[in-house]
Amino acid sequence: MKVVERVTDARAELAVGRQAGWDIGLVPTMGSLHDGHLSLAERAVSDCEFTVMTIFVNPLQFGEGEDLDAYPRDLDADLNMAELAGVDLVFVPSVEEMYPEPPATIVRVDELAAELEAASRPTHFQGVATVVAKLFNIAGPCRAYFGEKDYQQLVIVRRMASDLSFPVQVVGCPIVREDDGLAMSSRNAYLDPTERKAATVLHRALRVGVEAIESGQRSPEAVEAAMADVVAAEPLAELDYAVVRRGRDLAVIDPLSGEIRLLGAVRLGRPRLIDSLGAHVAPSAD
Ligand code: PAJ
Repeated sequence: MKVVERVTDARAELAVGRQAGWDIGLVPTMGSLHDGHLSLAERAVSDCEFTVMTIFVNPLQFGEGEDLDAYPRDLDADLNMAELAGVDLVFVPSVEEMYPEPPATIVRVDELAAELEAASRPTHFQGVATVVAKLFNIAGPCRAYFGEKDYQQLVIVRRMASDLSFPVQVVGCPIVREDDGLAMSSRNAYLDPTERKAATVLHRALRVGVEAIESGQRSPEAVEAAMADVVAAEPLAELDYAVVRRGRDLAVIDPLSGEIRLLGAVRLGRPRLIDSLGAHVAPSAD
């Protein structure tokens, strides 16, 4: 496994693989790797002949007062894990390498970037879209792997790739969870033991929502209320949102039908936790 810090070196390494006719897999991350990230790397390694992982804590996607400085970083551990997962190249740029000057060009995906996560993090997704566009341009034609853990991010990145004709196939990958259902996240490290126990509330709420749908509930408001009730019963958690939307583009859909996504966010101690689950509602016979 090679590790490079410069854009030119990353491009040179990828050009060698591309000349050999290899499919390139791209796995963008901010490091502090866990099994969720590794599942993306393993999928890329099994689909593609050459996998590049990027590790970059992107300042552009952190708002004022967010945890940019405190964001967990452990490059040595990350490189060991990436190597074990079979990654061929790791691109670890510095902030100066990615942003030699403050970028004047910002990528904004309008439609999806004003609600849910964006309601409490208004500049987050333009930071994500801008850095992902740069990574796509550095990587060139490839398959790029993103987790359903950050479902709104996945939908936004897909839309950006399509709108801007990036030669990139965006691949969504399932959420990896702890044994008790908590979605793995680098920010789970911020939870103290009591909060950690309470943190399962979000997954439990989403499960209750899925069960309501499976029992025939087709009203999004009723499903959303059922999820909110579960969160309300956990004194340590404060609900940010719990919604049911169309899976493809997060449009509001009433009554529920087709591929849908239940998405939630709660504040619990220091971190905000986010999670989501998919459900399928077959069209009714009438
Ligand atoms: P980061 O939070 O490090 O996540 C990197 C990728 O891992 C994302 O696609 C995310 O959805 C996925 N991921 C995280 N936890 C997961 C889990 N439990 N199961 C499955 N996949 C999981 O998301 C980012 O970084 C950044 O916004 C980035 C896209 C790298 C742009 O800076």
